[in-house]
Amino acid sequence: MNIEEWEEYRYVESGISAFIAQMEESRLKEIVEHVCNAGGKRIRPIILLLASEICSGSYHKSLSAALAIEMMHSASLIHDDLLDQGIIRRNLPSAPEKFGHSWALLCGDYLLAKSIEFISPYGEKVIRNFGKAGMDMAEGEVLDLGLDEGNCGESSYFECVYKKTASLFAISASIGAYTGRADDALAERFNLFGNSLGTAYQIVDDILEFLEVVESKESKFTSETLPHVYMKNMSKEEAVEKSVDAVKLHVNAAKETLITFKACPARDKLFQITDYITVDMLENI
Ligand code: IPE
Ligand code: IPE
Ligand code: MG
Repeated sequence: MNIEEWEEYRYVESGISAFIAQMEESRLKEIVEHVCNAGGKRIRPIILLLASEICSGSYHKSLSAALAIEMMHSASLIHDDLLDQGIIRRNLPSAPEKFGHSWALLCGDYLLAKSIEFISPYGEKVIRNFGKAGMDMAEGEVLDLGLDEGNCGESSYFECVYKKTASLFAISASIGAYTGRADDALAERFNLFGNSLGTAYQIVDDILEFLEVVESKESKFTSETLPHVYMKNMSKEEAVEKSVDAVKLHVNAAKETLITFKACPARDKLFQITDYITVDMLENI
């Protein structure tokens, strides 16, 4: 599967290019370009566009919300690289490494503000959900900072992962549903789907990090990982196996929710994405 050939991917890319093109020439623009053109997978905005399509929405109406999500995500990665002392991100020097901490911090602020502008046409409910996810992510990073102090159990790990990662996946799906014609009950099910998928995705990221097989990013400090949490009570192999089981559990939960949505090509693509960012990534470990 090559996500870069999907029309949703190209749609997101063209929206990001248009945003960068209208920025005045400046150092800030240079950093935004560096971060946004580095080849992120665009998973969250694609989920939003597909959720919208399942709920009879149009890309035209939902693109700005998709861009808001990607800008919030990119800002969170810049700030995460400040927190974790990230050196490589998306195969390139991280923003703090290349441009210094002050510029990176301000670029993150700028992208967050831009994300508010992008989401502003969608009405109070969507904007509230968007703001709540941003707060969850910050709280999740705060929890993350505390986890490596040695007292991290499974439940505090999952609380952290829900907040720092799954929350944005969850609202990508539910805001997509709202930009279509979903009512609250349907949007809530999309939220559940995104939550399960985002949790599975973060555990996969953790497993790859724990096994030191990630090449596209590198940081001086690493977050607490699920295999590391489990390793307090079992061998390394058992801890990885148990973490893979946790991925499968959340992938199955995501699919059980997905199957309840209207059958259509967009739903098929969400099934593909679900495997692509989780079990497929674990194939060669
Ligand atoms: C990185 O997210 C942060 C995690 C939640 C693991 P992505 O892996 O989606 O990052 P990009 O946008 O593709 O670089
Ligand atoms: C995920 O944290 C970053 C956010 C959700 C903001 P990590 O520190 O685990 O992610 P990577 O490995 O740097 O992408
Ligand atoms: Mg990090």
